[in-house]
Amino acid sequence: MFPFDDVKTESKQIGVGCLQISPLARQYIDEVLDANRLSIGPFVHRFEHDFAHSHGCRYGVMVNSGTSALQIALAALKEKHGWQDGDEVIVPAITFIATSNIVIYNQLTPVFVDVDQFTYNIDPEAIERAITPKTRAIIPVHLFGLPCDMEPIMDIARGHNLAVLEDSCETMFATYRGKSVGSFGDAACFSTYVAHILVTGVGGLVTCNDAELATMCRSYLAHGRDEIYLDIDADKQSDNDLRSIIERRFSFVRLGHSFRPTELEGALGLAQLQEHEENINRRRKNAAYLTKQLTPLIAKIQLPVIPYEREHSFMMFPVTVYKKGERDKLCLYLEEHGIETRYAFPLITQPVYKKIFNLNSEDFPIAKSIGENTFYIGCHPELERADLDYIVEQFYGFYGKEHEKK
Ligand SMILES: Cc1ncc(COP(=O)(O)O)c(C=O)c1O
Repeated sequence: MFPFDDVKTESKQIGVGCLQISPLARQYIDEVLDANRLSIGPFVHRFEHDFAHSHGCRYGVMVNSGTSALQIALAALKEKHGWQDGDEVIVPAITFIATSNIVIYNQLTPVFVDVDQFTYNIDPEAIERAITPKTRAIIPVHLFGLPCDMEPIMDIARGHNLAVLEDSCETMFATYRGKSVGSFGDAACFSTYVAHILVTGVGGLVTCNDAELATMCRSYLAHGRDEIYLDIDADKQSDNDLRSIIERRFSFVRLGHSFRPTELEGALGLAQLQEHEENINRRRKNAAYLTKQLTPLIAKIQLPVIPYEREHSFMMFPVTVYKKGERDKLCLYLEEHGIETRYAFPLITQPVYKKIFNLNSEDFPIAKSIGENTFYIGCHPELERADLDYIVEQFYGFYGKEHEKK
């Protein structure tokens, strides 16, 4: 997982994510190979079902990435509600670029709004201010493992008749006021890409409670196929009329994509889902330990906050550096000492968005500041106490001995 082969020191190598293939995952992979079937089948279906239910949703649709999940979920919402090209979708000004790319790919217009300084998540008041007669949806992004402030967001959505698509690609198994991420909006999307909470290599899911929307997503992921033949097992289902299956097997009713996962991803996902508790507990414990050990530095850095009645599943451990220009130096120092870092998602200043949009980053002061001063490191379940102590030691190494931990 660790991407550097030119680390300058003999130090440890601590990546932002990990890959754990358990005996159960190996057993399921063997079962896939023994069954000689890679196309969507029992493992994908069990994973979809069990994942959706573990997030308070009735339907789950697995695809080959979180981006694909977002792409088809928004396409299905657009089709279902008859939105016009150019209609507006509100997205946070700090997120991974896929969140807003898929709005553009659906011929809709992303409207960026500022985020909260402490949670890094979309600011409900900024949403309210961005609503126009053309607004159709909000995409709140549960960043780094922390649910957004969903109550005001859902109130705004209901008040203005807007759809909500939760981008939960970074957050699983976390609740807001006792309710799971993924269960608030019209649909939610998750990623199981490398370094995420569950890791299947590539992979993603749409979850929802709307049977029609789920069926549309299944069609969009498979080239826009007619719903009578969304699954190769449809041939075997006795309640389907064989003649009409033969006729409609190659019938495409909408412009779709080739976003299918395979049984290998389904098997890895199912095993990790069944074993997720240890994964999440370790992440929470690691984050709590890092927070405690780094607390003496709070005059210099902002550590993750967990607001009241929210759970954090800590896909990552975000840190904001208060002194202007110091983030880049700290990241370089950590990287030189074998600790992988990532800058926290500057979005509207990306070269590609500068070409497309004429945005002024001064209009998004918090996002601008996060883009310049925030980064994250891993706190994944493979990190042992010695690794965490090593990370802490490097922070103190950078800031000097005067802040020696208590
Ligand atoms: C917030 C967010 N949305 C969407 C995605 C896209 O997921 P994927 O990489 O599986 O396409 C990611 C992935 O890292 C993400 O962090």
